[in-house]
Amino acid sequence: MALWAGRFLKEINKDVNAFNSSLSFDCRMYKQDIRGSLAHAKMLCKQGIIDQQAYEEITKGLNDILHEIEEGTLLFDPNAEDIHMFIEAELTKRYPVSGKKLHTGRSRNDQVALDLRLYVHDEIKEIDQLLKEMIKVLTDVAIQHTETIMPGYTHLQRAQPVTFAHHLMAYAEMFLRDIDRLKDIDKRVYVSPLGSGALATTTYPLDRQFTAEELGMYDIMYNSMDGVSDRDYAIEFANALALIMMHLSRFSEEVILWCSWEFKFIDLDDAYATGSSIMPQKKNPDIAELVRGKSARVIGDATTLLTMMKGLPLAYNKDMQEDKENLFDAIDQVKLCLPVFKDMIKTMTVHKEKMREAAARGFINATDCADYLTKKGAAFRDAYKVTGQLVAYCIDHQLTLETLPLDVYKQYSEKFDEDVYQAIALETCLKNRQVIGGPSPAVEKKNIERVKAKVSAD
Ligand code: ARG
Repeated sequence: MALWAGRFLKEINKDVNAFNSSLSFDCRMYKQDIRGSLAHAKMLCKQGIIDQQAYEEITKGLNDILHEIEEGTLLFDPNAEDIHMFIEAELTKRYPVSGKKLHTGRSRNDQVALDLRLYVHDEIKEIDQLLKEMIKVLTDVAIQHTETIMPGYTHLQRAQPVTFAHHLMAYAEMFLRDIDRLKDIDKRVYVSPLGSGALATTTYPLDRQFTAEELGMYDIMYNSMDGVSDRDYAIEFANALALIMMHLSRFSEEVILWCSWEFKFIDLDDAYATGSSIMPQKKNPDIAELVRGKSARVIGDATTLLTMMKGLPLAYNKDMQEDKENLFDAIDQVKLCLPVFKDMIKTMTVHKEKMREAAARGFINATDCADYLTKKGAAFRDAYKVTGQLVAYCIDHQLTLETLPLDVYKQYSEKFDEDVYQAIALETCLKNRQVIGGPSPAVEKKNIERVKAKVSAD
């Protein structure tokens, strides 16, 4: 018999019950459900709404249930409508008088709204930690490559010299923003809707502030209809997860390119790559490809939530039960991807010489050549034009700016001197980019320290 069976003349159809049930996926919120109920019961007792004995039995019963679920001795009943009904029914089985009092002044609408917030808050903490571990690996690898010259690209065309450290640290910045975003979202996640009731609060003298404080939440929600029907925080969170995946996906794309024979900037550790069933020579970057693939899935999850919510009238609608599977999937994918990707980066081999070779081809010091002329008194646009002509000459004669004879340089501008070779050496190009945010080894080292301090601060 369902807890709500009172007004019904028939038992629910078996298939409808299965169709309606969310237990198979919301059972993962058992801890949060119990945490919320414990706080609610404490408040009910403090307010004199339930008696001390009921409070004690409810607390004991809920703690026992938690313990038994954790130990695997209490199994979820697949016929239960959801985790909230399951736990309440189980409690009532154990304490028939007190168990029935737990739901006083509460609806499943504010209960589920609370549980999901508690759940998201817990997950934010875990993902924050995973992002920090990822950044730690990036700084560890980067510090070894502050002098590893590689071409920086725009339009996937070699553009200007950077270092491998600089390239990796760009991702560290993205992940720092992801951390910041989660922290910001948490401000809106960790507020209590409990006390909103079904939609219009209740006539019991609830102390909503007390329950929120008991749970360590930042505040309560101030409109009960909003309290039960707001899923903005879940949408924000799912989108933050989609952004994390987008960052990982871009990184994956680069790892895939870098592993190719065309680039060969890196080699993945054998333990972090896979082979082919037919081509004996193959070593495939499956992790990176899967991460890239899974990013689509998480973006889809975020989109599903947004689309599911957009047409719902106030307040609670059952559609909202559909918020969980996508949100949980997005969380699971991010938590699956971050650690394995991090370890793949940690264990890869970096082929500095391949990066240096690539940097030597493609005229990535052309900007520096133009800057050289500018510093000798030419206007930048003139210097730019001359350098373009020099590049065309080099291409024609299969030369580079490093191997182009000085007399040819001089044919294009009298301002060129012997010191041009020093000025266009890739090491010089890098060293001279002293601007904050740039790739010069000295600036980079400081930045790596800054990022390390940031992730170990809190
Ligand atoms: N399983 C439901 C959900 O996930 C719980 C809330 C149901 N409330 C209701 N009045 N049917 O949204």
